[in-house]
Amino acid sequence: MKAYVLESFGLENLKLQSIADPTSPNKGEVLIQFKNCSINYRDTLVIAGKYDPRFPLPMVPLSDGAGIILEVGEDVTDFKVGDSVITAFAPEWRDGIPRREEFRSTLGGPLDGTLREFGIFSAKSIVKSPSNLSLAQSSSLPCAALTAWSALMEANPILPGQTVLVQGTGGVSLFALQIAKKLGAKVICTSSSPEKFEKAKNLGADFIISTKEFPEWSKEARKITDKRGVDHIIEIGGMNTLSQSIAASSSFGTISLIGVLGGNSMDANLLPVVMNQIRMQGIVVGSVRALDRMCRAIEVWDLKPVLEPLLYWKDAIGVLKEFPKGKHFGKVVMEIN
Ligand SMILES: NC(=O)c1ccc[n+]([C@@H]2O[C@H](COP(=O)([O-])OP(=O)(O)OC[C@H]3O[C@@H](n4cnc5c(N)ncnc54)[C@H](OP(=O)(O)O)[C@@H]3O)[C@@H](O)[C@H]2O)c1
Repeated sequence: MKAYVLESFGLENLKLQSIADPTSPNKGEVLIQFKNCSINYRDTLVIAGKYDPRFPLPMVPLSDGAGIILEVGEDVTDFKVGDSVITAFAPEWRDGIPRREEFRSTLGGPLDGTLREFGIFSAKSIVKSPSNLSLAQSSSLPCAALTAWSALMEANPILPGQTVLVQGTGGVSLFALQIAKKLGAKVICTSSSPEKFEKAKNLGADFIISTKEFPEWSKEARKITDKRGVDHIIEIGGMNTLSQSIAASSSFGTISLIGVLGGNSMDANLLPVVMNQIRMQGIVVGSVRALDRMCRAIEVWDLKPVLEPLLYWKDAIGVLKEFPKGKHFGKVVMEIN
């Protein structure tokens, strides 16, 4: 079969190669033919060796994939040949509170990822893709959508009528925007890119705050919420945004710490966190069962992920080079072969 293999760190060392075909699935396993994969910011860091230079190489990158089941092993009852499925970021983290190694064993580093034609997986580690979505749309879900879902639904569920603030218009934030709207929340979206304001509004954002025009955007967020503050903030920037998030949060509000695009260490005044009883929660994607719960909700809501026009895996190197420039709106998806 064909796969992109990272022999040593650096995008220049990622090569499309012929590697050994998969064997037949063992008991409890399935053979998947990947049809689509999608890119996350993490993938570019992994490839560059900046995420964890101790990841074993050679490795097949990318964490998100969707495909068709070609063969099922003995004792597999939940899936049949021909089913459309998606893989989970952390295949061993089945539900609840995982052991450390269960949420550290993840696709696209240290485990082989989805930029390949076929893969064998435990049937317990995969999920039926939502019936309302194509495989291309489904391949956008495992990391970004589940991260947004875990923040807003699994860790500390939001309620209808509450206010959610999403930072930027990347994959995680747009899924958080869409999920929050389905749950009946009001959504504030901050963005540095005026060309994306209208698109975010069309997706349901009730308010847009330009971070270029209002670097201290917490003041605008407080005005929008009649000084109450925001109930739940999707924190993507880290170092350059967390102080604003703390200032924008309501009493008893939640800040989900998801990304550190602006850096990961900082000085901050923590007194408002204590005095306003703000809950700060780190989020790392989510479990297989949470992925399944989310997919079933996506079906009921008929939620459609926002995708850039479909790209092809023969162009994967160029696509991965372009991705960190952040020009995309929503998820970047490739068709495999
Ligand atoms: N913890 C987890 O489980 C988890 C899961 C997925 C992703 N992440 C992390 O979350 C972050 C976002 O991921 P993504 O896939 O949504 O990324 P993405 O699709 O590349 O989107 C990033 C968007 O965030 C905005 N942005 C860029 N730099 C920023 C900064 N310094 N401060 C605030 N906003 C900024 C930009 O939006 P505008 O152009 O609109 O300003 C940009 O388009 C990354 O750090 C990623 O590694 C974490």
